[in-house]
Amino acid sequence: MDTLAIQQKISCLDLKGQHQQIKQEVFEAFERVYENTAFSGGPFVEEFEKDFSTFCQTKYAVGVNNGTSALHLAMLALGIGAGDEVIVPANTFIATAWGVSYTGAIPVFVDCTPDTWQIDAAKIEDKVTSRTKAVVGVHLYGQPFNIETLQAICKKYGLYLLEDGAQAQGARYKGTPVGGFGEMACFSFYPGKNLGACGEAGGITTNNEKYYSHLHSLRNHGSTVRYFHDEVGYNMRMGGLEGASLSVKLKYLPEWNERRRHIAKRYQDEIDNIYIQMQTQPDWAESVYHLFVITTEHRNDLISYLNENNIFPGLHYPVPCHLQKAYEHLGYSEGDCPYAEYLATHCLSLPMYAELTDVEVSHVIGVLNAYKNA
Ligand SMILES: Cc1ncc(COP(=O)(O)O)c(C=O)c1O
Repeated sequence: MDTLAIQQKISCLDLKGQHQQIKQEVFEAFERVYENTAFSGGPFVEEFEKDFSTFCQTKYAVGVNNGTSALHLAMLALGIGAGDEVIVPANTFIATAWGVSYTGAIPVFVDCTPDTWQIDAAKIEDKVTSRTKAVVGVHLYGQPFNIETLQAICKKYGLYLLEDGAQAQGARYKGTPVGGFGEMACFSFYPGKNLGACGEAGGITTNNEKYYSHLHSLRNHGSTVRYFHDEVGYNMRMGGLEGASLSVKLKYLPEWNERRRHIAKRYQDEIDNIYIQMQTQPDWAESVYHLFVITTEHRNDLISYLNENNIFPGLHYPVPCHLQKAYEHLGYSEGDCPYAEYLATHCLSLPMYAELTDVEVSHVIGVLNAYKNA
């Protein structure tokens, strides 16, 4: 086998290298937050919001406590509530649907395509009813969805388009960063994301001042003037330590994303095994490879083989949203979204993070190329 001896485990994700690299800078930023006792919201969050909106080329960004809250608040800002339906991909992390459910509205799941593994635009129109209010497109695994097609469908039926960019900070669609294509875009800054806080955090970008003002109030107990509450609101502010760590890390994000792209290109060019299939990359989509997902007919066998070779892949995601127990009451059954179901039972995520060394990447490629199904 043409691989180098690897002594240490290579996991799907390892955050230690990144945080050692920036530790000093982050600690200095934490000290500034501490000295200012600016722990909840405040100037360090505002600075990050400014930096992130510039990064996404949007007018506004609003920091919140996590990506799930971002989705929830965006739904509320759109006025979505009980009796409404929102179209959501079946192949995504479940939080995309939580944002809908928290408002009392119903997520309506649509299958993905067999090649891009993104929502199948051709199947959306069949699901539109008089109750449909919005479509959530997900830039899944870091790859932009087919934005113009979804925009056209939303325009035709008078629906809102929302972006879930939780996995895609810095991804570009036809050269423009994601975050400004829908009414709003929701981001997660969970530590494991391409841009992850030292703690839990999330954010929403928009070009619309009305949403921006409303989100500000919603995240802060429905209040813009202290102790005066205009509507039922939430405590979903971003913490100061999280905001400060994000401003430090945002400076490195382009370099980290570039490294992920380099690793992905090596996987795409050098992995050559009939038992492994990869996601199609349309030429308009510049992915930031939050995840590098493959499919195989021999998942359990391949996982054991990889583990024997010190490689520990992930599973994103083993159950599609429409078949989760939490949504049993919606009445979906197996066969409703066949491609999402195929992915769930055949997917596997290869190691993907900027600090993977060239030797480790070569090891993963060599091991995969040597795989022969018994
Ligand atoms: C596609 C997607 N949407 C939403 C979320 C929710 O973000 P958070 O974990 O910050 O609440 C995630 C995070 O894992 C995600 O991957």
